Amino acid sequence: MKRWMLTGLVVAAALPAAARAQTVDVTVLAASCATCHGPGLRGSGAIPSLRGKHAVDIASTLRAFQSGERPATIMTRLSKGWSSAEIDALAAKLGSAQ
Ligand code: HEC
Repeated sequence: MKRWMLTGLVVAAALPAAARAQTVDVTVLAASCATCHGPGLRGSGAIPSLRGKHAVDIASTLRAFQSGERPATIMTRLSKGWSSAEIDALAAKLGSAQ
């Protein structure tokens, strides 16, 4: 039991360094956007399209949602769960795919 806990601590301590050392993989996170933003991120009902948006604009919008600077219903809550590196990676992935 003690050895198990120690291993957990060592792994937990090593994770942030590993995350810094490599680009964040947001493949799964990015795939979840289409659930609401529609197939091809073209928008769905009241939910805006993300197509044609520049990576810089996506990143700044997500940060504005996260800080509460830009009021939103859903995106405030979602964006609070993302790290700064994940926001940059999402913006690069979705923005460059246009
Ligand atoms: C549960 C539904 C849902 C999911 C999942 C979702 N969004 Fe959104 N998104 C919204 C809604 C609703 C809005 C409109 C603002 C609001 O009320 O939250 C929005 C707005 C946005 C906007 C602003 C677009 C504009 O032109 O104003 C961006 C950028 C955005 N979302 C990015 C993302 C990204 C990137 C993901 C995936 C990582 C994602 N969203 C996943 C529902 C969702």
